[in-house]
Amino acid sequence: MSICDKRENVFPHDFAWGAATSAYQIEGGWNADDKGLSIWDTFSHGKGTVFEDQSGDVACNSYTLWEEDLRCIKQLGLTHYRMSLSWSRLLPDGTTRHVNQKGVNYYNKVINDLLAGNVTPVVTLYHFDLPQALQDRGGWTWAGVADAFEAYAVLCFRTFGDRVRLWLTLNEPYICAKLGHEDGLFAPGVRDPGVSAYRAGHNMLRAHARAWHAYDALFRPEQEGLVSLALNGDWAEPLDPRSPQDVAATERYMAFTLGWFASPVFMTGDYPATMRSQIEARNLAQGFPRDRLPVFVDTEPRVLGTADFFALNYYTSRRVRAVSSPPGTLSFKGDREAEDVLDPSWPVCGVPWLAVVPDGLRKLLKYIKDTCQEPAIYITENGFAQVGAVDLEDSQRGQFYQDTLLEVSKAVREDGVNVRGYFAWSLMDNFEWADGFSVRFGLFHVDFAHPQLTRTMYRSGRDYADIIKRNYSQSAMKK
Ligand code: GAL
Repeated sequence: MSICDKRENVFPHDFAWGAATSAYQIEGGWNADDKGLSIWDTFSHGKGTVFEDQSGDVACNSYTLWEEDLRCIKQLGLTHYRMSLSWSRLLPDGTTRHVNQKGVNYYNKVINDLLAGNVTPVVTLYHFDLPQALQDRGGWTWAGVADAFEAYAVLCFRTFGDRVRLWLTLNEPYICAKLGHEDGLFAPGVRDPGVSAYRAGHNMLRAHARAWHAYDALFRPEQEGLVSLALNGDWAEPLDPRSPQDVAATERYMAFTLGWFASPVFMTGDYPATMRSQIEARNLAQGFPRDRLPVFVDTEPRVLGTADFFALNYYTSRRVRAVSSPPGTLSFKGDREAEDVLDPSWPVCGVPWLAVVPDGLRKLLKYIKDTCQEPAIYITENGFAQVGAVDLEDSQRGQFYQDTLLEVSKAVREDGVNVRGYFAWSLMDNFEWADGFSVRFGLFHVDFAHPQLTRTMYRSGRDYADIIKRNYSQSAMKK
């Protein structure tokens, strides 16, 4: 059965049908109109950090070509568009000492154009692009970053909050902490295994909580919006379901990924118990510093309950097996004592990490419902990559969206999960971080070799537009 054939309306009438992008990945204009440097400007300008030394200097040039993006959004029939603000475009040195009016004007135009086109903006404040000036003071490992983030968030709520009702503070703190501070594969490129990722993650949670409380106290009464943070999570299953070691390793894997951030915000106000016990045991046994996993203190704004909905970025599923950690070496993986592997029966699309497992999303949605007190959930990212020769007739990706949305509809209908919306990653091909432009996630192809950076709808864009249209007209009939 396909999601298009379905008579019964499974998605709520006000379901958000969206696509997502982020500032650094699409805007270009890296030094235009007084924008300050971000850590991705610095990182991508370094040698050997990004595929073929590419950068987001120009990317899709959405800073200039926004109206082209708007045309794409309308062609898809989106009801919602998820975008991010570039912190260093608005605040060149990361602080509110100087607000860059040209940056404010740009985002005002984007937001106003969306609303005029009946498209609801969903705005992320931080999608991996910390102002370099704040990195110079220690970035996410510096406790003062939470003050700077709160001030930035307040500025954004005050400036755009009369029109924006759905906010995300941070995108994927796990990726930022782990790839940016443990593995050094993403900006700021820090390799400090077993230490900095926990510290960065902690300051991100503090920063998020501060922004949520500021919104709650100062803006919510008038603006009546909702604030959350986007968490990425793989669905994980034991490699050998009969092995108690693999079962326990799978629990650890979930605790050290989604749980790392979901537990403090949605579950207990602290990191998962397994995460604490693993790290503390290793500290004790091996003489590692006692304070590697920071503690939440009462003198700071509470973190528990600082999300008005659950925002989930889901891409893939994993099989997990237990591994023992080599003594004497500090590392995140060593703490976790769990290793993820691909299941050979799952097809992989484009990039090696992306096993396509649509029903993993259904299972993860149910897991979130059961463990996070039945929150309203927005799937804020989900997508399918293309590499190599461009294939505009990408029926595989269209099928992927169809299969995935069928699983989402089952989660809604059969599992009673309160899913409020779905955002395809991405509106168009863009700068895919360390993979540069070699990996394409778009519903629109972007011709990066063409001076106009021409956007052309993939067949999967037509398929997604079709899914939206059918579900939308069904819900209109039902209303
Ligand atoms: C996410 C990220 C996006 C996008 C996507 C595809 O982790 O938030 O910016 O790059 O992955 O890899």
